[in-house]
Amino acid sequence: MNQKLEPTIARPKPYLITLERGRTYFWCRCGKSARQPFCDGSHKGSGFEPMKYVASVDGEEVLFCGCKRTATQPFCDGAHTNLPG
Ligand code: FES
Repeated sequence: MNQKLEPTIARPKPYLITLERGRTYFWCRCGKSARQPFCDGSHKGSGFEPMKYVASVDGEEVLFCGCKRTATQPFCDGAHTNLPG
């Protein structure tokens, strides 16, 4: 069986986050976390795992993907503008 997993759309726009250098972030890939855009463990059993990202700069503002369809994980690439519906 070859099923493609479809993540849940957490929200159809990104999350603006100010990074802290050296901090490790776990970006939610499944879309089910209540702590968006980060993982809260809700992916268990979904087939998804969070993506680890370590910030190398301090104070940089970045856009973490909220629709979970970006091709430049974990950051927004504008994919939310092409969601169906
Ligand atoms: Fe979504 Fe962990 S809750 S990847």
